Amino acid sequence: MLHRALFLSSPPMQKEVVLSGIRPTGFLHLGNYFGAMRNYVRMQEEYNCYFFVANWHSLTTHPDTKELQNSVYRVIAENVACGLDPEKVALYVQSDVPEIAELYLYLNMLAYKGELEKTTTFKEKVRLQPENVNAGLLTYPVLMAADILIHRAVKVPVGKDQEQHLEMARNFAERFNHRYGEVFPAPQAFNFGSELVKIMSLDGNGKMSKSENQMATIYLADEDDAVRKKIMKAKTDSGPTEPNAVKPDYIENLFTLMKITSSADTVAKFEHDFNNCVIRYGDMKKQLAEDMVNFIRPIREKAADIQNNKELLAKIIQQGAEKARASASATLQQVRKAINMNY
Ligand code: ADP
Ligand code: TRP
Repeated sequence: MLHRALFLSSPPMQKEVVLSGIRPTGFLHLGNYFGAMRNYVRMQEEYNCYFFVANWHSLTTHPDTKELQNSVYRVIAENVACGLDPEKVALYVQSDVPEIAELYLYLNMLAYKGELEKTTTFKEKVRLQPENVNAGLLTYPVLMAADILIHRAVKVPVGKDQEQHLEMARNFAERFNHRYGEVFPAPQAFNFGSELVKIMSLDGNGKMSKSENQMATIYLADEDDAVRKKIMKAKTDSGPTEPNAVKPDYIENLFTLMKITSSADTVAKFEHDFNNCVIRYGDMKKQLAEDMVNFIRPIREKAADIQNNKELLAKIIQQGAEKARASASATLQQVRKAINMNY
């Protein structure tokens, strides 16, 4: 009885903070949906979630901002269309939270030129845009650390390519704590569940990506006919020559897409046909195309409705900014106190 009473009167456990950012540098695609957004939607029930559009980060590689505003609106709308609930999570735009910029300034004093120059993504960008090696590009990982630490996030869902940045964020946090006193927990990469789906490009070359072959990438904004055309053009071959053969990558990918969008019966039928060497890829793609159209359409239409409703968009963005700023300013107060800058 005593235990029960104690249990009932103790305060609710604080939910852990999950945070992730996405750069508004292109159209979101199926890979983003199954590798990221679908998991965000599941996380929102269990964690205290912050998801944001990293528009400052975009400036390091995309100085022309004509398209940027629309991309920001689209990313917000598509995230909501995929099931993120702005009431449950803080869904915001990075540049609406000036506290991040101040923390970035302090963290810059703890980041060394040598380590920044050694970062893989920096070296890659120097190779890709030798005419614009700006300081923002060099300090990209510092800004990313500020994004994370400003909410004292501990779980950061990101792909493999971001792990080095995350390790740097941990280093900056540790240096800050060591020099000024304990303020930040150490953020860790976070895989939600075990089944992280990787979606390959429909031409069989690498993963589906914003910057790769557009005809081999299915975007959440694609019209029905574009989806059909892309699926029908997906790479196949003349079919298996022996029963129960191992599937080549590009065929496995079609089955992955089918498992995600078609009924279990449909998948079982084509698995059976494959294993018995009677599969007709034309028929499989026709079926997949229709199921994919039915999957993409509601997301596309909902995202378009939100993008056309400027009032709603503004409300979502403002609501996100308020939540993010409340958390950010609380952290910044502690930071200023720790470094004796609270006058
Ligand atoms: P892109 O490679 O298209 O530029 P990002 O690097 O911005 O995409 O990735 C945003 C999120 O989407 C990351 O969490 C990443 O792991 C996920 N993601 C991107 N492409 C795929 C894919 N083809 N399959 C699974 N997840 C992906
Ligand atoms: N650098 C990330 C990317 O390119 C985007 C990003 C910016 C981010 N700030 C972040 C991701 C903070 C996670 C946490 O995908």
